[in-house]
Amino acid sequence: MNDRFLKALRREPVDCTPVWIMRQAGRYLPEYRESRARAGNFLTLCKTPELACEVTLQPIRRFDLDAAIIFSDILTIPDAMGLGLTLNEGIGPKFSSPVRTKLDVERLPEVDVDSQLGYVMEAIRITRHELSGKVPLIGFSGSPWTLATYMVEGGGSKEIRYVKGMMPDRPGLTHQLLEKIMVAVIAYLRAQVAAGAQALMVFDTWGGVLAPADYATFSLQYMARIVDSLKSDPDSVDIPVTLFTKGGSGWLESIADTGCDAIGLDWSISLGEARKRVGHRVALQGNLDPTVLYASANKVEQEVERVLSEFGPGDGHIFNLGHGIHPAIDPARVKVLVDTVHRVSRRN
Ligand code: CP3
Repeated sequence: MNDRFLKALRREPVDCTPVWIMRQAGRYLPEYRESRARAGNFLTLCKTPELACEVTLQPIRRFDLDAAIIFSDILTIPDAMGLGLTLNEGIGPKFSSPVRTKLDVERLPEVDVDSQLGYVMEAIRITRHELSGKVPLIGFSGSPWTLATYMVEGGGSKEIRYVKGMMPDRPGLTHQLLEKIMVAVIAYLRAQVAAGAQALMVFDTWGGVLAPADYATFSLQYMARIVDSLKSDPDSVDIPVTLFTKGGSGWLESIADTGCDAIGLDWSISLGEARKRVGHRVALQGNLDPTVLYASANKVEQEVERVLSEFGPGDGHIFNLGHGIHPAIDPARVKVLVDTVHRVSRRN
């Protein structure tokens, strides 16, 4: 029924700018914390389709959002590869078996998406049914480079020393790892589309730590091949694909060259500049600084207006934050954000 989000991805006219929020189902919502407590932990929440569906719908019930994103995580693929994922509150993700040696890479099993990640497809099917057309459902994956950083480091890391050491010393091995991950990502995204995902997003959270030439070789190349593969398959050719490289605002032209439908932007660039550079080729998603939501409701309104006016008149904008919402944000601020986007951007 509400297809503003899909229209904006295709840069078609809309009645007002669509909005959704990265990590919109998450710890800032008391009902999410309750569901997680009921599940026992985060991974069980992800792996129980009925609960993943429930959590996906929570922000849709509360706010006038224009898209739902399936509740899951980018680390489901390395988990399916047997790396022993645990996610602990305050510590973040950890893998008991990081991938560091040639043997580790060679031993990585191929992922059988339907049997090992079938819980995600089931969650998508149930959620599509429950949404019954209210808003479109987004499927997603991590980028091969971003998944590789978690797999090689063995979890989240500020220094990312192991993968940054592997890349220059053993480029062949690094590419072998990225190839294996890419094959899994392509199968995963195709299966999500078959299950009912109506748009796809690839999260390249760690692309921005790379020097430009390394970004092109080790991150963008693999995302381009993912886009190519989806666009050459009749079952997914019409599904819009958004690429989000955190810290990637220097490379918008080459991201647009992949043939993706939209680029996700962090808050390090103005939408006006991004639009001048690539806006005639792709839609743009973003890019309010997530910490603005710590400020007063008035300030949130002003900042939303500023982002909308930076994009300017015309179509092809999906409002979002420049990165995920923080757990300490007051949900009331999210309501202000969403309602202000719709009110201020309403076309006559
Ligand atoms: O956007 C959504 O609402 C859909 C769900 C979603 C989650 N993670 C839920 C989640 C999505 C799209 C992700 C993507 C994800 N996961 C990314 C890419 C986007 C980004 O933020 O850069 C990354 C890097 C991860 C890996 C990950 N998952 C980390 C580093 C952590 C721990 C750090 C943290 O924020 O707590 C997670 C856990 C996670 N994924 C939570 C949620 C709601 C919190 C888990 C909890 O309930 O304790």
